[in-house]
Amino acid sequence: MDYENILIDTDGSIQTITINRPSKLNALNKSTIEELSKALQVAENNNELRVIILTGAGEKAFVAGADISEFAHFAVEEGKALSKKGHHDLFNRIDHMKTPVIAAVNGFALGGGLELAMSAHIRIFSENARVGLPETSLGVIPGYGGTQRLAQIAGKGRAMQMVLSAEMIDAATALNYGITNKIVPLEELTEAAKKMAKKIIKNSPVAIATAIQCINANYTSGVDGLAFEINAFGECFGTADFKEGTRAFLEKRKADF
Ligand code: COA
Repeated sequence: MDYENILIDTDGSIQTITINRPSKLNALNKSTIEELSKALQVAENNNELRVIILTGAGEKAFVAGADISEFAHFAVEEGKALSKKGHHDLFNRIDHMKTPVIAAVNGFALGGGLELAMSAHIRIFSENARVGLPETSLGVIPGYGGTQRLAQIAGKGRAMQMVLSAEMIDAATALNYGITNKIVPLEELTEAAKKMAKKIIKNSPVAIATAIQCINANYTSGVDGLAFEINAFGECFGTADFKEGTRAFLEKRKADF
């Protein structure tokens, strides 16, 4: 498939997907969401790929939010449908991918941009990153998972503060809040994301996919996370990766997954 709003670069088993609408600060319009959704589906079905990095084009923005010009005229039912489709097609999809996703946040990540970064499994920010959920300043609320994931990641008090004040915070504050795992200079962002990806790639992809499911189980209503873990832990013992990982340890060599 040809994409208009995203760029795809595959380097061995690491794929970088770049949101590429720099003149609109990479704002997520409908077609960009569709393209991201499609590209992630393709990536998830490609067993050669072990880590996906999401980033934004240019030096100013990761994603400055959902495209305000597209929904400014919406009524109630259209608003509900927009949010529901976004959750289903993109934000929940990322959260539940078996292939780990790293968000390399290279500037503004506002509204849907921060929600996109928070759907990823790991976040790395450049020093110039500025993030926030400014939706209440537009008379709306975060609708792509922000009210839930920000509270999960940063805690309820900080989520309340950020959503109610609509404030933008800098990278150092985001690190302090636990919203980013790491801060690096902008020119080192790609390398830092790849370095993290290479650490992940050394480990069992089957165990990684299982671990993502288990960690997410704690945030899924009606699921007992500890019971889920007990079962998933047991299932690992039936995998070739478990046999290879333990055998490699006992033979004092690196595992080949
Ligand atoms: N939706 C649609 N277009 C957006 C956008 C968004 N979320 N964010 C930025 N843009 C567009 C601007 O309209 C402008 O387009 P134009 O040149 O055709 O007028 C272009 O991107 C550049 O943005 P601009 O506002 O001129 O840059 P700036 O440096 O002055 O300000 C921001 C940067 C991020 C502070 C500002 O763009 C902003 O507040 N964006 C909206 C953030 C937001 O509320 N996101 C949540 C949406 S739910």
